[in-house]
Amino acid sequence: MKKFIIKGPNKAIKGEINISGAKNSCLPLMAASILFKNKVTFKNIPVVKDVLTMKDLLVSLGAKVELSEKKKIMIITNNRQHKLVVPYKLVSTMRAGVLTMGPLLARYPQKKIKVALGGGCALGVRDTNWHLAGFKSLGAYNNLEEGYVNISSKKSLKGGNYKFPKVTVTGTSNIIMASVFIKGEHYIKNISIEPEVIDLINFLNKSGAKIKFIGKRSIKITGVNELINGHHEIIGDRIEAFSYLCVGAITKGKIKTNNINPDHLKSEISVLKKIGYKIETKNNSIQISPGNKLKPTNIKTGPYPNFATDNMPLMLAVLTTITGKSKVEETIFSNRFMAAPELNRLGAKINIKKNIATIIGQKKLYSADCISSDLRTTFSIILGAIAATGISRISRIYHGLRGYYKLEQKLKEIGIKITSKN
Ligand code: EPU
Repeated sequence: MKKFIIKGPNKAIKGEINISGAKNSCLPLMAASILFKNKVTFKNIPVVKDVLTMKDLLVSLGAKVELSEKKKIMIITNNRQHKLVVPYKLVSTMRAGVLTMGPLLARYPQKKIKVALGGGCALGVRDTNWHLAGFKSLGAYNNLEEGYVNISSKKSLKGGNYKFPKVTVTGTSNIIMASVFIKGEHYIKNISIEPEVIDLINFLNKSGAKIKFIGKRSIKITGVNELINGHHEIIGDRIEAFSYLCVGAITKGKIKTNNINPDHLKSEISVLKKIGYKIETKNNSIQISPGNKLKPTNIKTGPYPNFATDNMPLMLAVLTTITGKSKVEETIFSNRFMAAPELNRLGAKINIKKNIATIIGQKKLYSADCISSDLRTTFSIILGAIAATGISRISRIYHGLRGYYKLEQKLKEIGIKITSKN
């Protein structure tokens, strides 16, 4: 299994990074292709492992998927009836497989759709109960059979009301996709307004769907008869962008990230500024450079527009090197501090109590061998190793390759001393 070897400390790193398309936009958009009778074209595809897994999933359902890595274009053609079984093998390696539930239900409401239940993951319990409750509000019923959820409806799906108990990102995307062809109107409250969900709404509306905001977190969906062809360019990945800005932060360097809308990182940018970094934004780029004196800070994750839980492990790594006491409160997942014990092996001082991490910033970190356990933890450990003195080896980096395109190459290009070995 491939390992990263990083020689540190890497100081005052300077450079520009072209940010790829957002993985968490691309996956629901690919699932949404199921709604279309003919052809969907997506530009700015991040060719990462999860996207390739979703491609395999769509192919196993009967779609034709053409991908050009060079042009970052994917064309999905759906002119055949889909198979209605989403196998465990694909959902267990990538939770976003559950995103096929909504569009399959919308296209084939009276057939039996069988989707493997994802189960937990490294971040903690990850339920789909609110997805299923949302489908129920459209008239669909479900039952569990040998680890698979069977979803179906006796009649066509019809509009009604549903309020999410708490904000869920893929839950929102799933109910939106399920509602596109309903009879009448469906009202959904307390939805996620993450940029990736807005990207999905924009794509669907542009292709003929009728989804309208009637409040900050409330939408009305009016059913339409069909969607035929679609075309969309995926937004830049705000988590990838923040990851590389953190390389600038931890090395006290100057990093510019291109192809990213700064509005998608407003909370994160304000935290970086509060710490003392200098941030310059343009329409489609963000640049970080060191300020005079860096101060510790407190952050709390939350649904967008709050500080993203996916960006928290990256910030955690940066805070381990800022003198003073910082606090990080996680409010989304029950097990999101997996980077902390690894960063502590590098000499960080992070103490976790329930969902709060207290960090005592250190002047220096020291190299160690570390193991990654999930996607964002991989980058968090990379940040620690970049700052640490000596040679660190990071194993199980396949987690990182699920969501970061050309990770090693992009780090090398800005001058990080990184190599890999099997
Ligand atoms: N939840 C339930 N019941 C549900 C749905 C969610 O209890 O039916 C709970 C979850 O267990 C969790 C919380 O609600 O505690 C929020 O989970 P959410 O549903 O919002 O997460 P998700 O949609 O499964 C997406 C991203 C994650 C990101 C989260 C939070 C995709 C494909 N995944 O997951 O991305 O962390 O939203 O923003 O969009 C990543 O890219 O590294 C990643 C994990």
